Amino acid sequence: MNSDNLNLNKHIEYAITVAKSNPSQEALFDILVALRIVMKLGGDILLPIELPTAFEQDDISESGEIALRQLELEDGGMVTSCFTSEEEANKGERSAMVPFKLDTFCNMTLNEPALEGLVINPWGDSCFLSKDLLKIMFEIELPDEEVNQMIFEIGDITELDVECIVNAANSSLLGGGGVDGAIHRAAGPELLAECRQLNGCSTGEAKITKGYKLKAKYVIHTVGPVYSGSKEDPVLLANCYRNSLDLAAEHDIHSIAFPAISTGVYGYPKDEAAEIALKTIIDWLEANPSYGMKIIMSCFSKDTYDAYVKAMEKFDRERQA
Ligand code: APR
Repeated sequence: MNSDNLNLNKHIEYAITVAKSNPSQEALFDILVALRIVMKLGGDILLPIELPTAFEQDDISESGEIALRQLELEDGGMVTSCFTSEEEANKGERSAMVPFKLDTFCNMTLNEPALEGLVINPWGDSCFLSKDLLKIMFEIELPDEEVNQMIFEIGDITELDVECIVNAANSSLLGGGGVDGAIHRAAGPELLAECRQLNGCSTGEAKITKGYKLKAKYVIHTVGPVYSGSKEDPVLLANCYRNSLDLAAEHDIHSIAFPAISTGVYGYPKDEAAEIALKTIIDWLEANPSYGMKIIMSCFSKDTYDAYVKAMEKFDRERQA
C-alpha cells in the first residue's frame, strides 16, 4: 500500500479530531475540505471487504468492481465505511482491506440508493457523512493553484522522500549530534565538505546545500536559539522556520520536512516551540496561498507529535474565538 496516498489522510484524521473535541459547523466543513483536498491529490482510503464472499457474484458487479460493504446504523439506516489508515482499520473487527480512490468511493456511496451515507473510521474517531454532506463536499471549489498542506509524521527525517529536509544545525555548520549528526551520517562526507564552504550560519538564519546520499535533493541548515527564556528566543526560532521556507521557495522547492528545531540539545520546551513553529508556518502559507508547499513536521518521538497536535488545537480554538 503506497503510504504516501494514505499519508494524505492525516488531514482528514486531524479535521475529525478537531471536530470531535470542538464540534461546530465550521469544524464539520473543515472535514469536507480535508476530504476534498485528499481527493484533489489523488488520495486513497482503505475499503473493508470480506474475502470469502468477495468472490461471490453478488459482491462483484458485472464491471468487476467491489460492491460496497454495508453497516447498519442504530436507527436501521444502512451506510458504508472506510478507513484512513491501517492503524484505524485494526482498531475493530478484522477484515481484508483494499486501497481505493477516495473520490470513487464517495461517488459510489452517493449512487447507491440503499445507503444513507458513509462512516469514516467506524472503530475509532468515527465520522458519519450523509449523502447531503457528500454533495456539499463535491461542490467545494478548491483554488486552482497548487494546494499548500502540512502534516505531522513520527519518524526519521533522513528517510523522508521530500525535496528538502531542514537540519537543526549549530552556527559552525560542521555537524554535531541529534538530527544534525543523523543528517550528516545519512548524506555522507560530501555534505560536510560543502558546509565548510559556507562560513557558518547565524542563529535564525538558513543556508542551503545539496542532499548527496539523502533521498532529499537539498538540505537547508538553520540554527535554532539555545533556550534561555529570553524574549529573543521565540523571535529567533520563528526566523528559522520563516527563513527556511523563504530559502526553499527561492529554489522552487515544493516539499520540505522540518525537525522540531531547538527542542533537543538546545532545550526549547516542546509545547512552546511547537506553537511558534506552527504559527510561523501557517502565517507563511497564508502569505503564499498559491505556492503549493507540502510541509512535513518530522517528529522523532510521540511527545513531539502530541505537542504539534496540541498546538494546532489551540491555534484552531483561538482562530474560532
Ligand atoms: N529525525 C527527526 N528528528 C530528529 C532526528 C531524526 N533523525 N534526530 C533527532 N531529532 C529531533 C530531536 O528529537 C528533537 O526533537 O530533532 C529535534 C531537535 O533536536 P537536536 O537535534 O538536538 O537539535 P537542537 O535542539 O536544535 O540542538 C542543535 O544539537 O546536534 C546538535 O549540532 C547540533 O549543536 C547543534 C544542536
